[in-house]
Amino acid sequence: MACPYLNGDSSPPKRKNGENDTTYGKYLRLDKLLSCVEMQTEKKKNPIHDEHLFIVIHQVYELWFKQILFELNSICSILSDIPVAENKQLIMNSRLNRVVEIMKLLVSQFSVIETMTPHDFAEFRPYLATSSGFESYQFRMLENIIGIKPEWRIRYNKTEYKQVHCEEIYKQLEESEKKPSLLQLVQEWLERTPGLEQDGFDFSKQMKNSIDRMLTDIKNKSLATTGYEAEELMEQYNKDKEIFESVLDESQHAALVKRGERRLSHKALQGAMMISLYRHEIRFSQPFQFLHLLMDLDKLLMNWRASHSQMVQRMIGSKLGTGGSSGYQYLRSTVSDRYKVFLDLYNLSSYLVPNEYIPSLTDTMHRHLSTLPSFPGHTPKSEDVKRKGDNPMVGDGDTALIM
Ligand code: HEM
Repeated sequence: MACPYLNGDSSPPKRKNGENDTTYGKYLRLDKLLSCVEMQTEKKKNPIHDEHLFIVIHQVYELWFKQILFELNSICSILSDIPVAENKQLIMNSRLNRVVEIMKLLVSQFSVIETMTPHDFAEFRPYLATSSGFESYQFRMLENIIGIKPEWRIRYNKTEYKQVHCEEIYKQLEESEKKPSLLQLVQEWLERTPGLEQDGFDFSKQMKNSIDRMLTDIKNKSLATTGYEAEELMEQYNKDKEIFESVLDESQHAALVKRGERRLSHKALQGAMMISLYRHEIRFSQPFQFLHLLMDLDKLLMNWRASHSQMVQRMIGSKLGTGGSSGYQYLRSTVSDRYKVFLDLYNLSSYLVPNEYIPSLTDTMHRHLSTLPSFPGHTPKSEDVKRKGDNPMVGDGDTALIM
């Protein structure tokens, strides 16, 4: 009889209560999973020890890609609701944090494959024929779901990344390019940040006034001094003016988006700025952490590309890749801001202003961003209450944050 521990298809032993229950092997489909490690060199009667590690490590990566896609899809699904239920923010944060932790693991895993010497790799490399990680369907899905656009991609030998796949996968990848990505959903969510409304707090206008005040103060200080100090202050004035105009002026922002130097819409960028400046307000603190995690995700994907390309250079030097690219040269060119999806969030630091120039919240706005539990005697003003009918976070007397 086949071993019930390993062989998922065999009958598991009877449990005490007489019911057939599942086993470790059956539950995990270990019979299938473990039989997937098939060394080509062994089949060809020339077993090369390190091929085992090479296969296992790729399979492990693919399994983790599957988990990442599972988590990201669920986050996108939550973000697709308008408005996003406030009580789902913690779920989104924990799932994104999980993705971040997995990505850290994926970056550090390259040290395991680096225990293989280039000589060992060269021994079985011919058995790979033209197969390459470039054909990893899940990696492409992952890039697409995060928000990498086809036009940002670097091509080699005029090869488009989808072309290496069969018709069915080609179509699936094409569909994934059209589906709202995490970037797009985050953008729409940020555009709904409370406080951006022109007939309400009007963050943009408040910010413009504050920046004007800040610039005037710098200019006045410069005029009040002489020599090197005055020159330095004037330089700061010109630099700050340029930076803040590029973020406050819609047409300047649009030109930067066109040039690929910004990704988010003007309104979404204002939303991100607002969340970042007022992150200590209770209802902005979790969205702020979410934005932080999005940057971690971007950074770790970049670290993955950098570690992979370094490992490749070590293994094959300047040889061509099995997929036909220039190998290390091609991979190195993908380690750039071109592939950074949440680029604008990184750049938020350029728009930091000293605390004294952060526009003060109005009472109404402050109430919107605070948790106001319902308590006897508290009656919210009607303009404070924006409700989503089925938002479970909104009880009687609560002010709801609609995003
Ligand atoms: C000895 C180990 C490895 C070598 C020598 C290697 C080499 C290469 C090369 C040369 C390319 C460029 C395409 C080509 O011409 O083939 C590539 C792409 C790629 N490899 Fe690897 N690789 C290795 C391990 C891995 C591992 C463990 C993974 C994990 C899944 C992986 C995933 C990828 C992916 C996703 C790409 C596409 C990257 C892109 O186009 O941005 N590789 N690899």
